[in-house]
Amino acid sequence: MTRAVCPGSFDPVTHGHLDIIGRTARLADEVVVAVGDNVAKNALFTPPERVAMLQTACAELPNVSVTLFSGLLVQFCAAQGIGLISKGVRAADFAYELQMAQMNRRLTGVDTVLLPTDPRWAFVSSSLVREVAMLGGDVSEFVPPAVAEQISARVGARLVED
Ligand code: PNS
Repeated sequence: MTRAVCPGSFDPVTHGHLDIIGRTARLADEVVVAVGDNVAKNALFTPPERVAMLQTACAELPNVSVTLFSGLLVQFCAAQGIGLISKGVRAADFAYELQMAQMNRRLTGVDTVLLPTDPRWAFVSSSLVREVAMLGGDVSEFVPPAVAEQISARVGARLVED
């Protein structure tokens, strides 16, 4: 049985992420979506909020579960009996993703599949979604409707705070 992990920050989850998770769920028997629990300074959502958003977004995928992870991804994989890392790759990410895949394989032998991002989402990233949303742009095309609502609420609350 193939268990794969889709790791990431998912702040917030985008249609690009969901495309990769869905495609991985067709390639592997079980998929664990692993949300890194590091909180960046410009984070929009806490790691538990991101997990909840992903659980809702992946509810229709029976072989997908969502969890937090901390520390090294390869250690998480070893502890969970996961033999494959699956990540989406845009042209601009390729060099860094290749480097991480090679490092992870060197560390424990765990291999990585890099799935080319669907061209529809090639320009979408969580960081750009955050920036556009914080500056008042409409990001509803790039994320699920429930996530778009949470972004609006969070951005609105941030603007009131500042
Ligand atoms: O969505 P992101 O921010 O590109 O996700 C990056 C993530 C969390 C997958 C990556 O930073 C990671 O694997 N972090 C865990 C720490 C680790 O294993 N570092 C060594 C990578 S070779």
